[in-house]
Amino acid sequence: MSLNLEIELAGIRMDNPLMLASGILGICPSLIRRVAAAGAGAVVTKSIGLNAREGFPNPTVHIIKYYGLLNAMGLPNPGVDEVLKEFEGQKFSVPVIYSIYGSSPEEYSNVAKKLLKLNPVAFELNLSCPHVREVGSMVGQDPEMVYKVVNLVKSSVNVPVFAKLSPNVTDILEIASAAVKAGVDGIVAINTVKAMAIDVDLRKPLLGNIYGGLSGPAIKPIAIKIVYDLFENFKVPIVGVGGVCDWRDAVEFFLAGAWAIQIGSGILWRGVNIFGEVLNGLRRYMLENGFKCVEEMVGAGHR
Ligand code: FUM
Repeated sequence: MSLNLEIELAGIRMDNPLMLASGILGICPSLIRRVAAAGAGAVVTKSIGLNAREGFPNPTVHIIKYYGLLNAMGLPNPGVDEVLKEFEGQKFSVPVIYSIYGSSPEEYSNVAKKLLKLNPVAFELNLSCPHVREVGSMVGQDPEMVYKVVNLVKSSVNVPVFAKLSPNVTDILEIASAAVKAGVDGIVAINTVKAMAIDVDLRKPLLGNIYGGLSGPAIKPIAIKIVYDLFENFKVPIVGVGGVCDWRDAVEFFLAGAWAIQIGSGILWRGVNIFGEVLNGLRRYMLENGFKCVEEMVGAGHR
């Protein structure tokens, strides 16, 4: 049986449905190449803003045994103009999606317009950083704001726009609905879950920012439920993200309704070879279960 791992996501052709999640490896052409060589079908950059941000004081990450990774980086990035300098003229073998953040619809749109110089295949709007209030949770918790951001970016650029949503809301379907009404091309679910840890010896919070966002295995069931619900309610493609560490996790996301999946903190435990490992397992699963292409698996876990 011939097997096709290629997918088309909102018009973006990818050799396979595995993407590097935003944030985990920063914004750097050489890292993008390394992840592409390891087998990723597409790459999402760390979020880029209009101006440089230093981020939060250390410690900014903390590994929580068995569960995942706690982070509060504070959206450090050199600002869009520096990114343009570093990326101009660079060529990549896989589609590169630029993640952007802002504090207003205009700021998102201005960053996106500047990045057009790099011929991006798509933008991922970070509407969901849980611990940078003015540019993350405050934007992504307000359906009206989400509508305005998506609407303005969509009308400013002529490339697909994805919205990365936060699980830290009362009703994520309400937020997704606002993004869909504004014409979003796809939904990425989920960003990290608000969390914290305390050092029992120092009796102090472990992160410089006190609290942050949890990613990794512990949040996978939360992400699966959200992807499942999004699939039941919307027609736009869904990209699943949250705790994928092996091929079984990836398959679970497809069955829940994801068209593609992003891998982030799994890299911490498995290295970038995780992409090849998940692809091999995925191929085996598809062959053994009679799936000829990824699309056939999407939503197959729904009754
Ligand atoms: O702190 C950070 O830079 C995290 C960003 C995010 O979760 O979107």
